[in-house]
Amino acid sequence: MCGIVGYLGEKEKKAILLEGLQELEYRGYDSAGIAIIEHHQLKHYKAIGKLSNLKEKTKHFTSTGFGISIGHTRWATHGKPTELNAHPHIGAYSYVVHNGIIENYQLLKAQLIQEGITFVTQTDTEVIVHLFEHHSKQTSTPFEAFEKTIGQLEGAYAILLISELAPDTIFFAKNGSPMLVGFEGDDVYFASSDTPIIGRAKEVHYLADGEYGYATNQAVALFDATGTKAFTKQPLPTDKALAQKDGYRFFMEKEIYEQSHIISETMMGRVLEETIHFEELEENFFDGISAIKICACGTSYHSALAASYLFERMVKVRCSVEIASEFRYKEPLLTHDTLFVTISQSGETADTLKALKMAKQAGLKSLSICNVDNSSIVRESDCAILTRAGIEKGVASTKAFATQTMVLWMLALTMGEHKQTITPTTLAQEITAMRQTPKSLQVTDRLHAKLNRLSKRYLHGHGFFFIGRDIFYPLALEGALKLKEISYLHAEGYPAGEMKHGPIALADSRLFTIALMPKSMHYEKIKSNVEELSARDTTICAISPEPFELADDFIQTHFSTHPMLEFFEMMVITQLLALEISVRLGNDVDMPRNLAKSVTVE
Ligand code: AGP
Repeated sequence: MCGIVGYLGEKEKKAILLEGLQELEYRGYDSAGIAIIEHHQLKHYKAIGKLSNLKEKTKHFTSTGFGISIGHTRWATHGKPTELNAHPHIGAYSYVVHNGIIENYQLLKAQLIQEGITFVTQTDTEVIVHLFEHHSKQTSTPFEAFEKTIGQLEGAYAILLISELAPDTIFFAKNGSPMLVGFEGDDVYFASSDTPIIGRAKEVHYLADGEYGYATNQAVALFDATGTKAFTKQPLPTDKALAQKDGYRFFMEKEIYEQSHIISETMMGRVLEETIHFEELEENFFDGISAIKICACGTSYHSALAASYLFERMVKVRCSVEIASEFRYKEPLLTHDTLFVTISQSGETADTLKALKMAKQAGLKSLSICNVDNSSIVRESDCAILTRAGIEKGVASTKAFATQTMVLWMLALTMGEHKQTITPTTLAQEITAMRQTPKSLQVTDRLHAKLNRLSKRYLHGHGFFFIGRDIFYPLALEGALKLKEISYLHAEGYPAGEMKHGPIALADSRLFTIALMPKSMHYEKIKSNVEELSARDTTICAISPEPFELADDFIQTHFSTHPMLEFFEMMVITQLLALEISVRLGNDVDMPRNLAKSVTVE
């Protein structure tokens, strides 16, 4: 996710901005920039890569006296991570920084180009500054121009805009992406989260969606659709480390909770009213493709496996899934009608990268689904779709898995629409279900408390089986991996129907079985598999919308007619169960032993 900082006042601005951006580094970024207006002088600096590059560029600059200033770290969603695409984006006499996605930017951009405006970047953000300057020619005040601008924006945004038209004013607006206003005497601060202003501001107002306004050295004004509003100021937290985790105990816990919001960003601008649109894919992208091969490792392999059911069932194309470390040495048979898909959170996994190079060498078209733009796998692929999960700090992947699975679901739908294997009615039903995903990913206090209580009973035993059928089998694999990674207890994911082919020999009261029992898919089948295990005294934890009499523990989920919604809800439960068991065992949840976030060696 991008990071935003802003400051208005007499203090030295460069230091405030750069130190503030430093505090937002944990959110991940690939470029950064600042802009300052003081004594009617506009200055801006931008750099790709780490903040140290921006510091190098600004080392001879120091601000003096009253001024207004904004800063930004960019996590690329539209347009490559280049200096040009870095924020602030620049008009003729204004600068803007933005976190989020403007869904209707292409329409607005086309209208402005028709007005003779020239665009220099590939980003959605640049539309904002040109729209503001376009309106400022027809409005009586810059603030009116700002109001008109944000009134035309659709999507998620946290915006700071400064202009030579109002050299003492910072304009701000928030909708869908986080931003706060900090106060200390006459100084006014802005940031994406608390940490950049801890130790500077004393009070804070967390902007709500739809709030906007302006700050000058005379006043700070807040508005929403109903008109003027009062700030609700509260004391700013003082613990930076806790603030980076937004108050959660671990980054992994924070990342599980933010899945519900993040998945909306993954869908934004792509899941439209009646279709799915990836601007990364040319219209004829799927022409000549009659098979798909997906290659990945670990959690990314699990999202690939889940997707293979969707591609074959909905798109009627053969879809094979390979573990990259196996693929690269098996002398695979590859045909030119196969789309080679690599999935990777980091985009740097050595085995996956090597597999991609092999496929390209064999002349296959390649697509990567990745969380880090400009990573090796993204650069190596013919085409890349970003998951927009934002940086994932926890070594055990959570939101990356959720967003990968969502992108693959969307890809199956768009490919099915292209190949006409999905009717418009089915597509509409799928999109309706997709739009309910944020709700399925929501963590309630009640659920988390139940998993915390329940986890105490799963600290010993001689192992776990996670079992499921169809797309819930890859979810069972993922649940088992999550538990292994952070609890160090042995766990296996297994197709539920396979238990009687050997594994059931392990069944006894000390064997824990986590049974994924969706109501919308093969319920009776999975129920009888679990009954076989229960008959052999296995300890059963059933996760299901339907109460299951034989369960020793039961976690009730919501009834849904769509398996993917059950998939996402059960995914959250397995993630939280692993986390709570790990906490009870006193493990390092975010940095489990022996593991690295990105395995860049084979
Ligand atoms: C996920 O919880 C694991 N840390 C690991 O399996 C990871 O998914 C695997 O190393 C692949 O990484 P990638 O997605 O960055 O390629």
